[in-house]
Amino acid sequence: MRRKLAAGNWKMNGLAGSIAELEALIGGVGSDPGCDVLICPPVTLITRFVERASGSPIAIGGQDCHAEVSGAHTGDVSAEMLKDAGATHVILGHSERRSDHGEDSATVNAKTSAAWRAGLTAIVCIGESEAERDTGQTLAIVGEQLARSLPDGASSSNTVIAYEPLWAIGTGRTPSGEDIAIVHQAIRDMLEKRFGSEGSSIRILYGGSMNPGNAAEIMAIRNVDGGLVGGASLKAADFLQVIAAASS
Ligand code: PGA
Repeated sequence: MRRKLAAGNWKMNGLAGSIAELEALIGGVGSDPGCDVLICPPVTLITRFVERASGSPIAIGGQDCHAEVSGAHTGDVSAEMLKDAGATHVILGHSERRSDHGEDSATVNAKTSAAWRAGLTAIVCIGESEAERDTGQTLAIVGEQLARSLPDGASSSNTVIAYEPLWAIGTGRTPSGEDIAIVHQAIRDMLEKRFGSEGSSIRILYGGSMNPGNAAEIMAIRNVDGGLVGGASLKAADFLQVIAAASS
């Protein structure tokens, strides 16, 4: 039985005052939310969020890391630095990293190894563009990204997969339940083929316009083990509804 994970990706949003949302979230989830809960704030807030969330069931993660431990990489943050700040997870290969920063799956693969080296759980994102979907390439693209982005040695403790169709991110559009089920089953099959029984335990999140209105329906789909939530994670009131949907 895979416990669901409700993961909030705050992207480039949040200032010191946003700790009020974290506090509302902590108050709302109580001591047992019934699923795992993770917030990935911008890197400037990680330490403060870790301190505030200490003793609560909410974990704090990063949104990216560099593949190397340290060195001359201005503006970058290593997996070891995230770990040192108290993060437990890091999102890698998000489509906005792939498009804004030209990250390919080989880069994501190296970053995933770095996350493991530091003792972080990597949330590895994959997903097709609208043009790729329209031309029937979804499973081929997702399969290729999955194969190339994951190093050998993925397990349920070091890796979470997030399937995020690019055209669904921040658009209010989502695939049909049937389409999500088909892609998640294909990802499950690939994980089991490559990683054996660990592949059965690795969680597969759905991401892309998940919100209080659709979360329950999406969470109920087979092989959907939680959500990677952008916009609807910024307000505690919304994210608490997503968490409730993941717990039921
Ligand atoms: P969204 O973003 O929920 O705002 O669509 C999801 C994501 O990009 O992780």
